[in-house]
Amino acid sequence: MNDINNKLIDSFGRKIDYIRVSVTKNCNFRCKYCMPNTPPYIEETLIPLPKMLEFLKIAMDLGIKKIRLTGGEPLLRSDLSGFIKGIYDYKSGIEVALTTNGFLLEKYIKDLSKTGLKRINVSLDSLKKETIIKISKRDALDSILNGLNLTKEYGLKIKLNMVPLRGINDDEIIPMLDFALSEGYLLRYIEYMDNSFAFKGLKGFRGDELLKIISTKYSFKPIKKRHFGPANMYELLDSSKAFGIIAPHSHSFCEGCNRIRLTSDGIICPCLYFEDAIDISSAILNDDKIAMKEALIKAVFNKPEKNKWGENETSSRAFYHTGG
Ligand code: 5AD
Ligand code: SF4
Repeated sequence: MNDINNKLIDSFGRKIDYIRVSVTKNCNFRCKYCMPNTPPYIEETLIPLPKMLEFLKIAMDLGIKKIRLTGGEPLLRSDLSGFIKGIYDYKSGIEVALTTNGFLLEKYIKDLSKTGLKRINVSLDSLKKETIIKISKRDALDSILNGLNLTKEYGLKIKLNMVPLRGINDDEIIPMLDFALSEGYLLRYIEYMDNSFAFKGLKGFRGDELLKIISTKYSFKPIKKRHFGPANMYELLDSSKAFGIIAPHSHSFCEGCNRIRLTSDGIICPCLYFEDAIDISSAILNDDKIAMKEALIKAVFNKPEKNKWGENETSSRAFYHTGG
């Protein structure tokens, strides 16, 4: 979509219309690939959600069309539903999405369903109770499955994210797809991204390795990208159903990047794999609209061309801080 009103264009000509907002670093899980060794509570100076909303209004005025709420675990933030409703009240055409580990969906889905929210992404790495405990350190499977069922009953669309890990959940690469297809969820496999906070020695799968495994049961063909997004999509030949692979290690990943990130403590990160960041917490806390606007335009303009995977295979910035 060509939007002449969008003021968020970077120096490589990419139009930025998507912001990922991490509303907390904290999480009720301790996933092996994310934050296995952090203490139960991480100190953080949170931006109050009403202040965050004022910043997002400016971002929407400048051309942001999609807002994804992430964490940590975003449902740990009380009144997330009120915040989402505030976003829709300001711009009804905005697309809001939520990425959650699913544990608290059974508690909050009713409130969430009244906000205007239409889609939820749930991280689910296994359908086995013991494997979920092994990965997330929480006996969470029943709650997640119940949350998924309720979410479906309330009419929201569901995407599942799975991070396949060697020797841990690699026996479920096909069963997870079977499950997603039968439930009407869209499964996306994510290549494990190494980072210094993760459990040492974890090994994931590259996209081509996953495709080979999936092809032992399913026939599929790639779907041409209609719009930019991080997932490469594949359509099953015997149905119109699909699955996706998120492969941040591939070179083309950054070309179509349309996104920017805001952390729960008010830092704008133009790129997940780039250390540059702009702290705009004081502008947000002081409700300084001009400073917020200038900082956002500057952060977008300075967005780097590509992530730094090639130079240094590991990231020192935690995904639970930047929101993945
Ligand atoms: N590598 C790949 N995926 C990760 N996620 C979190 N940390 C990593 C990592 N190191 C995933 C979660 C969630 C999504 C937002 O990011 O599983 O589905
Ligand atoms: Fe929590 Fe998500 Fe990190 Fe797991 S991957 S510990 S659910 S933030």
